[in-house]
Amino acid sequence: MSLKIALLGFGTVASGLPFLLEENGDKIKSAAGEQVQISKILIRNDAEKARLNAMGYEYQFVTSIDEILSDSEISIVVELIGRIEPAKTYILKALQAGKHVVTANKDLIALHGKEMRDLAERKALAFYYEAAVAGGIPILRTLANSFTSDKIQGVLGVLNGTSNFMMTKMVEDGWSYKEALAKAQALGYAESDPTNDVEGVDAAYKVAILSQFAFGMFLDFKDVSHQGISTITAEDVAVAQQLGYVIKLVGRLEEKTSGVWADVSPTFIPETHPLANVNDVMNAVFVESIGIGQSMFYGPGAGQKPTATSVMADIIRIAQRLKEGTVGKPFNAFQRPVQLAEKTDQISRYYMIINTPKQNGQLLRLVSVFSDQGVSCQQVLEQELDDNRARLVIMTRLMNQLQLEAIKQQISQESDWHLLNVFKVLGDDHDN
Ligand code: HSE
Repeated sequence: MSLKIALLGFGTVASGLPFLLEENGDKIKSAAGEQVQISKILIRNDAEKARLNAMGYEYQFVTSIDEILSDSEISIVVELIGRIEPAKTYILKALQAGKHVVTANKDLIALHGKEMRDLAERKALAFYYEAAVAGGIPILRTLANSFTSDKIQGVLGVLNGTSNFMMTKMVEDGWSYKEALAKAQALGYAESDPTNDVEGVDAAYKVAILSQFAFGMFLDFKDVSHQGISTITAEDVAVAQQLGYVIKLVGRLEEKTSGVWADVSPTFIPETHPLANVNDVMNAVFVESIGIGQSMFYGPGAGQKPTATSVMADIIRIAQRLKEGTVGKPFNAFQRPVQLAEKTDQISRYYMIINTPKQNGQLLRLVSVFSDQGVSCQQVLEQELDDNRARLVIMTRLMNQLQLEAIKQQISQESDWHLLNVFKVLGDDHDN
């Protein structure tokens, strides 16, 4: 007897599954209670089939989803095509056909997860997606199971391997943005279209999914504001270093009195913070909770073997639940109505860099913009650019979103000023 699974797609992640079955077959068999067998693999066309056969793969490759849906011996469908279509249609069809589903598709879960989860629940099927967030870090099941007794207050995550890899290479090794991106693609970290990686969209998908597990709230993707790494300049990086920070793309979830605040933005992290040392393709999820306090989960956020390992763990969990007779239970049982934080509750410190004329009085003008909003500045730096222009760097104290918007609006109205960048700043007490 064996547990027959079908793979949809045979790209970077999917081709890591045979490795695990070969190298760790005994343990997987023992944990699953039977041998896991890749029964069929859906690929695009015959040309791809010929290419994979030539590479020595001897699986049964098929080009029609119906060949999988109509195969009653296949109990689990593993979607590893990525993006929305045809993955969404295939998953819905698989659930309709009574198959359990495992996916690593964060785009799909963040944008259309509810439809799939509801269908899986109605049909008493498993729908698991551990690999969708932070690749190889087993964070979703940890939040769903091990944090059940705890109350989470905040989650900070370095959640995109590609952008973290790129930032690390650009800062530490002086690589250009283009070189770093090309290498991230060559290593299989980036999505086929890497826009979502570098623009913070991929991380925002993961933040939306994390909110389900940390706060029991199924946030809409549009509830997670996001900003990527493409606007970060060498000057920003140099200022951060000078002031004892590193810049990383950070996803943040916080539960405030009025609700949850979720966003992704380049963030100044104090060099002493555990997240500051999360480099290259590594991801980390830093959790603050009333019971455990501070905990951090660290590991590779992308790449073939780490992601395939999380996918295989989901497959094994389904096999176990099938044996226990508990397979209809949801991946995450914690659910509450969505409640978003008011803007006045969205509080942070910020870094701002502004291009100004090189004239006396600019600093005073700028400080008065902040004090008009009741915001004080913790640190101000002035940098001369040439005979006419200068740059002012401001590290603010805590302010809320309404104050930030008013300050940005005021700065934009000053025709001789140009606001270059605004990033969040973490406190070194991890509690700003
Ligand atoms: N492109 C993603 C990343 C892959 O770089 O993190 C894992 O989701």
